Amino acid sequence: MSDNQAFVQWFRGAAPYIKAHRKKTFVIMIADEFIHSEQFIGLVHDLALLNHLGIKLVILHGSRKSIDQHLSKNNIDSAFNCNIRISDSKSLPHIVQAINEVKTYLESQLSMGLLNTPMSGSDISLVSGNFVTGMPLGVIDGIDMQHSGKVRDIKHEVINELLDQNHVILLSNLGYSRTGEVFNLPAEELASEVAQALQADKLIFIQHRSDDHNWADTLSTEECRHLIENENTDFDYRSLLRQAVQAIQSNVKRVHIINQQVDGGLIMELFTRDGCGTMITNLFYEGIRDADINDVGGILGLIQPLEDGGILVERSREQLELEIGYFQVIEKDGMIIACVACIPEESSQYCELACLAVHESYRNAGLGERLLQKVEHLSRQRNIRLLFTLTTRTSHWFLEHGFVEAPDFPLPPHKQTSYNQQRSSKVMSKQI
Ligand SMILES: CC(C)(COP(=O)(O)OP(=O)(O)OC[C@H]1O[C@@H](n2cnc3c(N)ncnc32)[C@H](O)[C@@H]1OP(=O)(O)O)[C@@H](O)C(=O)NCCC(=O)NCCS
Repeated sequence: MSDNQAFVQWFRGAAPYIKAHRKKTFVIMIADEFIHSEQFIGLVHDLALLNHLGIKLVILHGSRKSIDQHLSKNNIDSAFNCNIRISDSKSLPHIVQAINEVKTYLESQLSMGLLNTPMSGSDISLVSGNFVTGMPLGVIDGIDMQHSGKVRDIKHEVINELLDQNHVILLSNLGYSRTGEVFNLPAEELASEVAQALQADKLIFIQHRSDDHNWADTLSTEECRHLIENENTDFDYRSLLRQAVQAIQSNVKRVHIINQQVDGGLIMELFTRDGCGTMITNLFYEGIRDADINDVGGILGLIQPLEDGGILVERSREQLELEIGYFQVIEKDGMIIACVACIPEESSQYCELACLAVHESYRNAGLGERLLQKVEHLSRQRNIRLLFTLTTRTSHWFLEHGFVEAPDFPLPPHKQTSYNQQRSSKVMSKQI
């Protein structure tokens, strides 16, 4: 395929994402290690692009590295308590200066508009202000944290008005109290609080990490909690996950952690199916659980009418008992209302999506799509990137969910023999 053809194909593939993201609110926190890196300018171009595509942007920056540098230049040692810097009166002026320098640099970069660059004619309108009210962290373990603070309030209505007028909001990790004091706030926590206050569609953390770190494609909040509890998980990553879980629990739809060491990581995460970071969400997996042997009766009750109607292939109770470990179910008021099986093929090259069924009374509410997402998630966890399914009546539903007809798909041997040609099922597959 020529470069031009590949570009056209990619651009068409991005169309649904462009439409989906338009007019949505994204809160993006950029670690300051990244702001000082060579790849930063690429991110500036990508932020301008998102603004042109009609995405409402709130950009926040961290300042940890700059503060360290300023303090050490001025021979000031920072004291830490519970891993939080104590911003005392001596260091505060330097902390404020460091934060303002990062902010000014960001402002200058986002104001570029040189011809023959991706910023040509971009004319981004940045707005900053006293949108964040802070308050003191107070005394922790007997130690006064002085000007280290936490978020008290976000002026979300004002921010929303400005976003509606196509301004981009730029926030530093400073908060001002009602008594007129300045507080140094943890940037990740501030980003999460802002996303919660705005009920943002996405909270995105742009990180700059060396890649010995294992990046999962997707994590549910449950999986995040396991990682947070695991002492082997890197300390900074744990605090990031804590903020992510907090945001999701307060109705922020998705959190992404993106490693921007990969040039264009943000664009890949937002506009391609594969993405380039970790997406944390509960939207799809909420209410879905692994089936166990006690669910066999409930599943049989759900699928029997569909088997009788020739929509699903028949499964005996014995077969279902053997396969129960592959099943996911959704239960409501003690009744199984939806199920699906994700069956990995022996060589682990693909998974079969089987026995997808939603009870009649609960259809068209997105349960089918959520189960499909769960199957995709389970497959990715096994490093499997290909799904197939057999269907007689539901091919259009699968087509609308990214499957294509695959008459030449190499069905696993046990499927070929048991595959009942009379049913004239269509074989469909999906790259995930
Ligand atoms: C297919 C099925 C699992 C979808 O579950 P669901 O929870 O209703 O699906 P969602 O809510 O995610 O999606 C609903 C959308 O799919 C559409 N849809 C449902 N069944 C469809 C079908 N057979 N063909 C095409 N589109 C279909 C609905 O019209 C709706 O579209 P809309 O939102 O544009 O109105 C469910 O209809 C079902 O259990 N069908 C019987 C069993 C079956 O066919 N299983 C597949 C076996 S291979």
